[in-house]
Amino acid sequence: MNSAHQNRRQFLSKTGKAGIAIAAMPLMSSFAPSLALDAIAYQQKPLPYSYNALEPYIDAMTMEIHYTKHAATYAKNLADACAAEKVDTSNTSLITLLNSISKYSPKMRNNAGGHYNHELFWQLMKPAPSTAPSGTLGEAINKTFGSFADFQKAFGEAAKTRFGSGWAWLLIKKDGTLAISSTPNQDNPLMDIAEVQGTPLLGLDVWEHAYYLKYQNKRPDYINAWWNLVNWEFVQQRFTEAK
Ligand SMILES: [Fe+2]
Repeated sequence: MNSAHQNRRQFLSKTGKAGIAIAAMPLMSSFAPSLALDAIAYQQKPLPYSYNALEPYIDAMTMEIHYTKHAATYAKNLADACAAEKVDTSNTSLITLLNSISKYSPKMRNNAGGHYNHELFWQLMKPAPSTAPSGTLGEAINKTFGSFADFQKAFGEAAKTRFGSGWAWLLIKKDGTLAISSTPNQDNPLMDIAEVQGTPLLGLDVWEHAYYLKYQNKRPDYINAWWNLVNWEFVQQRFTEAK
């Protein structure tokens, strides 16, 4: 954990919920990375851009339905599951819940994952163009996968071959190494039931609801287009915090 992360933790522990709101506020008006690894809340936050901001790669109607219907439903169902299963959300972070998801119901697993994954997904994108990652993350990607192009190929393959609905991930494992994985449904690498566990740095939603209106059955075209939207500054921030 770096000093910036420690400072943020100290700040949040001193200021409580008000501090979380203040810490997340810059995302509402800019694309500057500012969301700490552990700052995803139980409630849905406003999108950090308008529904049409990711055109032409993701169309406005898909974004609106995705955010206001699909993602909103995960947030609501998560709240219901927390009430039913007596999770004290004021004292249990969403990450802590996901880390022990095997102790909870399938409803909790699906909706805690669904909510976390989407809240992360919105922040991982920004209006085009996107440039290749640089800095320490770019170096780690090159070292691990050979080159950025090789990484894109391997990540794209994980996304294309995920049968049915799910996600592709770039994650950092507990030993500090990078890995690519994919998970079914709304699972993610934070869950104690995940095949490959760690902190997700980058995730791609490959449920049909994420792309069907524009791309129909052509998931590979959606994946190729999505690279134009990745907010690598934010991914770099997550990598720096997680190391
Ligand atoms: Fe989705």
